[in-house]
Amino acid sequence: MCGIVAYIGEKQALPILLKGLYRLEYRGYDSAGLAFLNPGLQLYKTKGKVADLETYIEGKNTSGTIGIAHTRWATHGEPNDINAHPHFSQSGKLAIIHNGIIENYAVLKEELKQRGYLFKSETDTEVLVHLIEDIMHNEKTELGEAVRIALNQVIGAYAIVIMSENDPDTLVAARKGSPLVVGIGDGEFYLASDATPIVEYTKDVVYLNDEEIAILSRKQSLTIKTIKNQIKTPYVQKLELSLTAIEKGGFEHFMLKEIYEQPRSIRDSMRGRLNAKEGRVSLGGIIDYETKMKNARRIIIIACGTSWHAGLVGEYLFEELARIPVEVEYASEFRYRNPVISEEDVVIAISQSGETADTLAAIELAKSKGATIIGICNVVGSSIPRATHAGSYTHAGPEIGVASTKAFTAQVTILTLMALRIAYMKGSIEKSRFHQIINELESIPEKVEETLKVDPEIKELARMFTFARNFLYLGRGYNFPVALEGALKLKEISYIHAEGYPAAEMKHGPIALIDREMPVVVIATNRGPYDKVISNIQEVKARNGKIIAVVTKGDIKVKELADYIIEIPETEEMLVPLLATIPLQLLSYHIAVMRDCNVDQPRNLAKSVTVE
Ligand code: F6R
Repeated sequence: MCGIVAYIGEKQALPILLKGLYRLEYRGYDSAGLAFLNPGLQLYKTKGKVADLETYIEGKNTSGTIGIAHTRWATHGEPNDINAHPHFSQSGKLAIIHNGIIENYAVLKEELKQRGYLFKSETDTEVLVHLIEDIMHNEKTELGEAVRIALNQVIGAYAIVIMSENDPDTLVAARKGSPLVVGIGDGEFYLASDATPIVEYTKDVVYLNDEEIAILSRKQSLTIKTIKNQIKTPYVQKLELSLTAIEKGGFEHFMLKEIYEQPRSIRDSMRGRLNAKEGRVSLGGIIDYETKMKNARRIIIIACGTSWHAGLVGEYLFEELARIPVEVEYASEFRYRNPVISEEDVVIAISQSGETADTLAAIELAKSKGATIIGICNVVGSSIPRATHAGSYTHAGPEIGVASTKAFTAQVTILTLMALRIAYMKGSIEKSRFHQIINELESIPEKVEETLKVDPEIKELARMFTFARNFLYLGRGYNFPVALEGALKLKEISYIHAEGYPAAEMKHGPIALIDREMPVVVIATNRGPYDKVISNIQEVKARNGKIIAVVTKGDIKVKELADYIIEIPETEEMLVPLLATIPLQLLSYHIAVMRDCNVDQPRNLAKSVTVE
């Protein structure tokens, strides 16, 4: 996690760095800091958010055309002023910002302490800056080379940027496991954890690869070398990101904007891939691996959090349509379980950020055992798409609210397309049924638009449950992952305890929790195990639980039982998650706003989980 932004050029660095930090704040927001050269090193850092930093630097000397900045999500050491980045070297002449974890920091720290280095913070980052200075001093070498030597001694993940008082014309950056993008302007360079702080200044970017070091100098063009000292030719790409995609566009929060974007994001995820008129589904990114997928002995879906919930929907889809056995695994468990994997297995890795450390490690493990890895990611150029054999981007656009919304529905859309494509190739689905489903899928963006009209009703509902202490979410079949996702959304942004369960499992334990204080959200749409869900509703009712039911428009049976009804348009059972998730996102959103929670940046969370 943590957000990094840096600048070297002719302009004043401060406005670029501050704006960049605000854009990257989704990556961590417990402390923030900046450093400039003008000509000495000026350092400002504070606990709290970027706005606190902005207040803190008011009236201070912040001029300079070279600078580095950081917004932190604490790993080593509590969030306070001292542990905030940048960190200085012992001489005070080097400043560093870092995203990632130095796993062998304790050993390095001990060695450095014995050589007389003093540590001010509890961070692993400070170890790195002392180590670099130590190498510069002992080997009589310049900064770039010292960074290279230091990184050969480091175990762990890093994206770093370093600035030296003795070399005001150079920034040195490097990455391994944590993202870093270089923006190339006219006589200037930008650096950031993602492209959002760069987009309004230049469209020419270079995504650094693992173990690459970039030297950004006012005096020469971009130099990239590996930590093994191999010179690399920079691969300059054109950014497709637009500025409007990363702004709130009149919405009060990014989360609400992103919920409302779903008709567009689902449509974009299907664009060029689904043609209902011609009866065609094709995903260009996986074309060379379709046969492998079709013949897979088993599909293993690996992901974390919301992406894992999308994976569960994928399990139902692939098993029903393509008749391939599917296992859905938490990446964090899979990687440490010595799983049985063969070359006939296909692994689908799902990740919005494309940077989740556990998912990346699980991919590497499955790859080492010969499995084929297919990615479903949202962030173009991120680490996971580069680690997979093939894959499909979700095209949801930047998701800035920390709670994932439009990424989930885009992931489910891609999984639906993949399952349909493989089923079609395999002949495991009747042609007429295939056409029926793809026609319906094409109409989903419009139905999402219609679903969003329930927003005012949900706001009213949220008023009634603002101060509930617990929530239960129940669903069966395709709606079970929807229940899990609804509960996750509520707990992460409103801090209300919420559990998602398969509705039938309730009687094996959670039913003990039900009383008149307990709101129970049941997804009870009219296909699949509808009657069974009604029985589960009756069980809740008998114990005086308050039922909030998500039902298909025109429903009569559930209406008679439920205390509150949310209607969504009729659709195929397998497509219901694309609609039923939306009222649950809105419910969490409104409850969180009414509880005065920070919806876009919930406590303790960060958007991109690049640590284990
Ligand atoms: C929930 C949420 C997290 C992420 C999880 C995986 O709203 O955002 O649970 O889904 O951290 O992240 P990605 O999809 O980036 O791998």
